[in-house]
Amino acid sequence: MRKKITIAIDGFSSTGKSTVAKELAKELEYIYVDSGAMYRAVTFYAMKNGFISTDFFDLDSLTQNLNSINLSFKLNTNTGNADMYLNNINIENEIRTLEVSSFVSTVAASSSVRKKLVSIQKEIGKNKGVVMDGRDIGTVVFKDAELKIFMNASANTRAERRFKELIDKGQNVIFDDILKNVVDRDYMDTTREDSPLVKANDAIEIDNSNLNRKEQFDIILKLIEEKIN
Ligand code: DC
Repeated sequence: MRKKITIAIDGFSSTGKSTVAKELAKELEYIYVDSGAMYRAVTFYAMKNGFISTDFFDLDSLTQNLNSINLSFKLNTNTGNADMYLNNINIENEIRTLEVSSFVSTVAASSSVRKKLVSIQKEIGKNKGVVMDGRDIGTVVFKDAELKIFMNASANTRAERRFKELIDKGQNVIFDDILKNVVDRDYMDTTREDSPLVKANDAIEIDNSNLNRKEQFDIILKLIEEKIN
């Protein structure tokens, strides 16, 4: 059997981390974990329970209710991907809206939330054979990951990608709103006190502004093979 390793893929929002992470996990028969989906799920829970809205965030109530949040991933046989479930309800579509995106960085800056999610993520990855994408995977969750990738692309390129994705899903969105959300989240994710988004010293940076999906996949797969063999 081939040696199983841990692959951490961090980077700014909409850099295509999850697309390449999913493809790699399929190729290697590894578990794929979208850690951003978990922060989105907690954000969705906070919105539904009235703990967060524009100009209002009741972190104490959210923290007190964290034990009532049960997160799981289940395979969607139609898409072949794992969908996010909150207390056994599929919320995969609900967590991808611009509204959730606009609150998620505030929720993700909370240490109580991070503590809970990091502990679940460590548990999922404890036997290796995992590709996890996020913001703090190589710096906090799996500090000893054999391969750490840090993905980047210009804010405009990222906003264009996210815009197309949401339009393709039938959402009614304006490009400038998406660009503003990308820039705002970059700022909040890199400046928060707890686990800010930074490139780990031992991460390999890939700017994919001018790379297509296949080129990016091949570059990372080659790096993985070097680690496994
Ligand atoms: O990957 P994404 O855009 O779906 O992530 C949503 C937000 O969650 C992102 O703006 C920051 C936060 N996040 C985080 O703080 N730590 C992670 N490991 C993953 C996501």
